[in-house]
Formats: sequence, structure tokens, C-alpha cells
Amino acid sequence: MKAIVAYRSKSGYTKKYAEWIAQELGCDIKEDPELSDILGYDTVIYGGGMYAGGFNGVKLITKNLDKLKGKKIALFAVGSNPGREHEMKVFWDRVLTAQQQKHIGYFYLRGGFDFSKLTAKDKMLMKMLKIKLQKTKERTEDEQGMLDAYDTPVDFSDRENIRPLVEFVLEL
Ligand SMILES: Cc1cc2nc3c(=O)[nH]c(=O)nc-3n(C[C@H](O)[C@H](O)[C@H](O)COP(=O)(O)O)c2cc1C
Repeated sequence: MKAIVAYRSKSGYTKKYAEWIAQELGCDIKEDPELSDILGYDTVIYGGGMYAGGFNGVKLITKNLDKLKGKKIALFAVGSNPGREHEMKVFWDRVLTAQQQKHIGYFYLRGGFDFSKLTAKDKMLMKMLKIKLQKTKERTEDEQGMLDAYDTPVDFSDRENIRPLVEFVLEL
């Protein structure tokens, strides 16, 4: 099996998972991949962060599925949300059609949040969200957690989380 882990990571959480997966599989790894970087592999694993409900860089895969035909594909999204099933279902249904979900593996790996590591643009976006959250009188647990994370970075990443993805990739 010739496999590659391709990923995009803004603040390092996806990078950490990508490195763990590549170590576990003993395979190649590529940051900020282009299509030509992944075409020569039988198995393509793509990871990216969740940003405002989107999946950083996943279009490289979803827009090129015709060119990736015959390959085993696994996706992993890294976010700071707790990964509740019904919430992640909404996300995955936006990324992949029901048909695609039958043969493409998709996994949520919880990352973290570190305000100090954000780009200027993301810092500004998050500051706006912070103001909005502060104005909200009755915050959900997730909203409060998000607000707390502005001052104290949180990191939920755990090597154990890669196991289901690794098993999917290794099974025939
Ligand atoms: C502007 C912005 C938007 C975000 N939106 C989401 C989101 O919709 N859902 C989520 O779970 N996490 C969200 N996050 C948190 C990131 O997904 C999280 O920090 C992730 O670990 C980033 O991975 P990366 O550093 O590899 O890009 C957001 C973070 C920023 C800065």
C-alpha cells in the first residue's frame, strides 16, 4: 500500500494528527498539497481544520474525485468542538454526498484552540465572535468553553483518537 497523509493546518493541531497518522502507517506526509502531490498514491488521507463550519482545503479532494477514482480515501477534520454526533453529521453531509460517504472514510479528531497562534485575519474574526458571545446572556456550555479558551489555550488532541482512521486505512 502506497499511502500519503496530506494536510493543511493553521495553528498546528491538524499537523500534529497528520504526523501521528504518518508515523503509525509509516507513510509519506505533505503539507499544503496540490493535486500532483497525491496522484501517485493508492491511499490518500486528507486532514484540515474546521473554520466557521467549513473544512480547510477539502476541495482538493471533493472537487477532484474523478481524478482520484480507484484510490482509498480517508478524510479527517480537526476542530475544537466536542464532536457531538448530530452536529458532526450536519458537517459531513455538507462535505460528502450520501453516496460518497459509503466509500470515503471520514473522521473527526478533536484539536484545540490557541488564540495567540492565529493569523491577523482569524484574530479579527474571533474578536468579533467574542464580542457577540459576551453579549449573549444565556450561553451554552460550548459557547462558554469557547469564551474561556480565548484566555487559556485548550488542547484536546490525543494520539489514541487516530485509531479508527488507521483501522479504516489498513482494512482491505
Ligand atoms: C476563525 C475560526 C473559526 C473556527 N471555526 C470552527 C468551527 O466552526 N468548528 C470547530 O469545531 N472549530 C472551529 N475553530 C477551531 C479550529 O478548528 C481549531 O482550532 C483547530 O484545532 C484548528 O486546526 P489547525 O490549527 O490545524 O488549522 C475555528 C477557529 C478559528 C480561528
